[in-house]
Amino acid sequence: MTNTNSIGLFDSGIGGTSIWAAIHALLPAENTIYLADSKNAPYGQKTKDEIIALSIKNTQFLLEQNCKIIVVACNTATTNAIKELRAKYDVPIIGIEPAIKPAAQNSATNTIGILATRGTLNSELFHQTILKFDQTKIVEQIGHHLVTLIENGELESPQMKELLKTYLKPMIESNIDYLVLGCSHYPYLIPQIKKILPKKIKIIDSGEAVARQTKNILQERNNLNSGTQPGKSIFYTNADPKVLEAILKHKHTIIQKDF
Ligand code: DGL
Repeated sequence: MTNTNSIGLFDSGIGGTSIWAAIHALLPAENTIYLADSKNAPYGQKTKDEIIALSIKNTQFLLEQNCKIIVVACNTATTNAIKELRAKYDVPIIGIEPAIKPAAQNSATNTIGILATRGTLNSELFHQTILKFDQTKIVEQIGHHLVTLIENGELESPQMKELLKTYLKPMIESNIDYLVLGCSHYPYLIPQIKKILPKKIKIIDSGEAVARQTKNILQERNNLNSGTQPGKSIFYTNADPKVLEAILKHKHTIIQKDF
């Protein structure tokens, strides 16, 4: 049995392409449709109800393209809306959450840092997660403005460098040995972050874990694409496609559409 329908992914913008890249690397034969809702970014500043409404709109769009599984490639949308999405739709829905567990389990200093949006750090789901790791000191930091700068293509601007220094300093002073990137936009900042953090601090994100989870669910349901040709990837954006184009390493089909 083979299922050639696409894996559908959405994010508030271009950040979730870090998740898409992990999925595409693990499952190269799969067709994928990625939706960048950049017009409405950042989600991290919105209310829970607004995030739920946007997540439903995005999921609906992907289901209209017959996607066989939905990957919410956004921590903010996952932590605020995944329950509602799963209650509303029958199709499997994979979420992405900050990788607190591997960081807490492997930390030698018993202190980890997490950089995420306000929407993620204030969510009920995130609070429930950290309760399970109450033996670990967690230094939380909201990444104010980072998503907006990334959406503007400012990965290396002086403002970006200054903000990162300000956000990471208290974590370094607290002796963290793991930094969890709790927003799918942030892996694009790793080169900048590495220039600021001492080498002994490890950086982790959730891309590969989400890719493995997506594969497992498709396998369990006999829904993998067993083809041998590389899958087709289509990217939709409701903003200037140039930003998406710049962040993708290779040339892909990008469609600009108002949704
Ligand atoms: N990529 C989203 C996340 O993972 C960014 C949220 C936002 O738009 O603020 O949280």
